[in-house]
Parts: sequence; C-alpha cells; structure tokens
Amino acid sequence: MVEKLKKLKENIENQIKDLKNKEDLEALYKETLGKKSDFNKILRSLSDLSIEEKKEIGPIANEIKNEINKIFGSKRLELENEEINIKLKKDKIDLTLDINKEEAGSLNPITKIQYELEEIFKGMGFAIYDGPELELDYYNFESLNIPKHHPARDMQDTFYINKEQVLRTQTSNLQVRAMREFGAPLKVIMPGKVYRNEDLDACHEHTFHQLEGVVIDKNINLSHLISTMNLVISKIFNREIETRVRPGYFPFVEPGIEIDIKCTICGGKGCPSCKNTGWLEILPGGLVHPNVIKAGDLDPEEYSGFAFGLGLTRLVMMRYGISDIRDFMSGDLRFIKQF
Ligand code: DAH
Repeated sequence: MVEKLKKLKENIENQIKDLKNKEDLEALYKETLGKKSDFNKILRSLSDLSIEEKKEIGPIANEIKNEINKIFGSKRLELENEEINIKLKKDKIDLTLDINKEEAGSLNPITKIQYELEEIFKGMGFAIYDGPELELDYYNFESLNIPKHHPARDMQDTFYINKEQVLRTQTSNLQVRAMREFGAPLKVIMPGKVYRNEDLDACHEHTFHQLEGVVIDKNINLSHLISTMNLVISKIFNREIETRVRPGYFPFVEPGIEIDIKCTICGGKGCPSCKNTGWLEILPGGLVHPNVIKAGDLDPEEYSGFAFGLGLTRLVMMRYGISDIRDFMSGDLRFIKQF
C-alpha cells in the first residue's frame, strides 16, 4: 500500500514539473488528491486494515499526503511569481523617455496665409475687423438682404442655436456691423472662421475660413473691385495671374460677380483640380446692394461700395496642393510640421 502511495507521489511529481498555469495545476490537484482520486481510495481502504497495520501505515500515508500537498503548494507559488513577473515586464516604465524634449508648435497654414493677406491689405489702406462667430440671424442673413424664407438660405446649411442665433455661415455677417460701427468711407477686411452643417468629405468641413472685404465710399464701381482683386491675387501668388469675371448671384450684391483665376496647376489646359475647365473659382464679390448699405445706416444715394468673400481655406489648399480639407483640423503633427 505504501508502495502504491509512493508511486502516486512520484507520478504527481513528474506531471507537475511540466505545468505552465494555475488552472492546469488545480485540475491536477483535483484529479490526484480529490474525493474520487486513486489516492483517496487508498486512504479510505486503510479502514479495512487491522489496528497494528493502521498504526504502522497510517502515519506514513499521512506524511506522503503532506509531502504531496507541499509539492502543490510550492508549484502554486512558483506559478504565481511567474505571473507577476510577466505583468511587471509588460507594464514596464520606460525610464529612457526624454520628458524634457519640448516641441515648439507652429502656425496652421491657414493662419499663415491670413497673416500674409492682412499685410497685403493693410498696405492698401484696409483696416482689420473682427466680430462674433455666434451671430444673430439678423446680421448673418437678414441685414444682407436675405429675409427669413428667402431661397438663398438653402445655399448655406446653418447651425441654428435658437430662432435668433446661428453659428455664422459667412464672414459677410460683419459687413453691416462694420458700417454701423465706423460709417463711411470704409475699407475693412474681416478674416475668420465660419460654420456650416456639411456632410464631411475631402472638400467639405463644418468649420472653415473666409476673408471678407468691404469698401464703402462715394462713386465706387465694379472696376475698383476687379482691379483691387487682380492686385491682391498677383501678390498672393507672387506673379501675374490671368483672371476672368463671370456673373454670380448673391443677394447682398448687385451686380454680383465671380472672379476666376487661370488654373495654377495646369496653366489653363484642364486638369482634375479645375475640373477640366482651366479655371478655378476663387473670389466672389460685387457691388454692395442698396438694402445692405441702408441696413448699415448709410444712404445708398450718397454711398456705394464693393464687397468680396475670399475662401481662405480653399486658397490654402490651392497654394499648397492639399487635397483633403479635413487635414487642417486633424491636429496631426505630421501635417502641420510641413508648413
Ligand atoms: N459670403 C459668400 C459665401 O460665403 C461669399 C461672398 C459673395 C461674399 C459675394 C461677398 C460677396 O462679400 O460680395 O458664399
């Protein structure tokens, strides 16, 4: 009987060596020492022995059982230690990380071009004006000759905060504000962020940048607008760029125009960037509508003016050949570091 028990112990010792995890160890424990195990059966059969035999074999059997328990105990400890070590290795703190390495930020390319344009316009006598992005429906639409149910509202999918307030959809919201604040003569540009409820893709963002301009004085006509824009365009691109003028419709100008530039990518031959037309839309504008001048508390009989709205984001995309508008706000350093 003792021999049998010793053999079982040896067996256990052999099996336990190769175990790699706690679950297998507990399974082996159950199998070898549990109620239904051979070991237990042998122990139970002790009761059939004579008192002398019991006295002799009992203690030995007990000792073997204790030894086996010890073997399991130390294997348990060993596996637990291994587990802890694996965890420690995984969660290791990398002390070599250089936390003193400070990276300087840089300007977004939109901000850079905005600053460049501000310098160009300042050189031409324009002031720079700033205003609210959370705007009254009145300044964003109504004062610009776009009453409540005017179909032109459909062109700009708007974030309404409530019935009176919107996130401005265009920097034109500052035209009437500037007229009311400074009167005439007036020469201002208004760069800034605008918001539209767009379905996002490579060409559409909910947030983008425009640069608005307004000039109000006596006897202002279309040639003032066109010559000013031609000058600005040649300064932005650092060379003469051919432009063309088409009619365009915006309720706050009359007449309204679109100034296109000869495609800077293909030189006018036609390519995907200009949708094979050879021209790029860049600058809408026109002569300020008398109703808008009136809203600005000025007399349209005495004053006239021109306005334009440069798509700043689009201009930057054209200048640097950026094909996805979402890159600007991505916060991805790999993008921003290129400028
Ligand atoms: N605000 C217009 C837009 O976002 C652009 C625009 C057109 C501005 C004509 C102007 C203008 O000042 O005269 O589509």
